[in-house]
Amino acid sequence: MLAAYDHLIVTPVTVRVPAKVNLQLAVGPLRADGYHDLVTVFHAVSLFDEVTVRPAERTTVRVTGEDAAAVPAGRANLAVQAAMALAKAARPAGRDGRAGPRRAARPAVAIEIRKRIPVAAGLAGGSADAAATLVACNELWQAGLSGPELGQVAAGVGSDVAFALLGGTAVGLGRGEQLTAALAAGTYHWVLAFAAGGLSTAEVYAACDRLRAARAASVGGPGSAAGPEGAVGPEGAASPGGAAGPGGAVSQGGAASPGGRLGLAAIGAAPAPQLSTELMAALRSADPAAVGPLLANDLQPAALSLRPVLRRALAAGRESGAVGAMVSGSGPTCAFLAADARHARELAVSLTGAGVCRGVARVHGPVPGAAVVAGTEQA
Ligand code: C5P
Repeated sequence: MLAAYDHLIVTPVTVRVPAKVNLQLAVGPLRADGYHDLVTVFHAVSLFDEVTVRPAERTTVRVTGEDAAAVPAGRANLAVQAAMALAKAARPAGRDGRAGPRRAARPAVAIEIRKRIPVAAGLAGGSADAAATLVACNELWQAGLSGPELGQVAAGVGSDVAFALLGGTAVGLGRGEQLTAALAAGTYHWVLAFAAGGLSTAEVYAACDRLRAARAASVGGPGSAAGPEGAVGPEGAASPGGAAGPGGAVSQGGAASPGGRLGLAAIGAAPAPQLSTELMAALRSADPAAVGPLLANDLQPAALSLRPVLRRALAAGRESGAVGAMVSGSGPTCAFLAADARHARELAVSLTGAGVCRGVARVHGPVPGAAVVAGTEQA
C-alpha cells in the first residue's frame, strides 16, 4: 500500500479540532432508525484535540493525553471509521487527472490522537477526532473532497462529526448532521467543569425517553401536555422560556427508546423540536447576559438522573455568578457561561475551590472547525 504514496505526499499531516457545547439541544421524537430528531445550536469552543496521520502498512490508532486509556482502539475508534469512510468515498482519480493515492482503494494510515477533550464527556471529542482524521486524510491522500463532500462522509460516521468540520456556531437539524451556520456576534467565555467518568450518549437518550414516558404516564398518557420538561430551577434543568418558545421547543410526551423498551405507541407523541428564536436573537446581540438564561438542554434531566451529583456542580456555578449553567450535550461535563474573560477566571477558581468537579478548563467560543496545522509538503 505504501507504494501508492511514492510520488506524492509523505509528510505527516496534523489537524487541530475543537470541542463543542450545545447552546440549545431540543430533542424530538425517536425515529425508526433509533436516532432522535433534533434542533440544536452547536458552538465550537477552544479546547482542542490534535490528530496526525501518516502513511503506513496498515491502519492503526494511537492515543495519548487526556483519558487516553478510555479511547477505543481499532475499528471501534471513530477516527479509524472516518479514515475508512474517506478511503471509500475518495474518487479514483483527482481533479488534476493524476494517478496517485486516490487510486488505492483503502490506503492505510497510522493515526495519532493527542487528546485534551475528555472522553464520553458531552463535548463531542470522538466526533472531533473523526472530523480531524477526515481533513488530515483528505490532505495526505490529496483526495480533493470539497467541504460539503467531507460533510457528507462525516454525517455517515457520527451525528456530531459534520459540525466538528465546520466549527463556529451553527444550527443542526435531523440527527444533528444537517448544518446551517448561525449569525452569532462576539466571543463567549466559558468554564467547563469536568466530571469523573463519562456518560454514554445512547444511555442518556434512552434515559430521556424513559423520563418522558414516565411523565406522560403520570399525566394521562403519551402526548399529554406535560409542560416544558426541565423548567429551570435550582437544579438548572433545561429549557427555559427560549426553548419552550415558538412552537414549544421543549419535547414532551413519551418517546420510546431504541429497541422499543417503552412501546412504539409513544414514539410519535413528542412534538417536533423548534429552534429558539429568542436564543438566536440573543446570539446576534453578543451579550452573554442575554444568552445565559436561554441556554437549554433537553438531555439535562436525563443526565442528572444518571449522575445526580452534577446538580452540585450546577448549583456551585450559579452561586458563583455564572450567567448561564447547563450540562453540555449528553454530559457529564457542565458548561458555565461567564460575563467576560475576567469573570471566567474567577468562576474557574470558585468551581475548583468548591470541589464539585475533577477539573476545569477556561475556553472561549466560537472557534473554527478542524484545520490543518502542519504537513502537506510535496515530496
Ligand atoms: O451518531 P452518534 O454515534 O454520535 O450517536 C450515538 C448515539 O446517541 C446513537 O446511537 C443514539 O442512541 C443516540 N442519538 C440519538 N439521536 C441523535 C443523536 C444520537 O438518539 N440525534
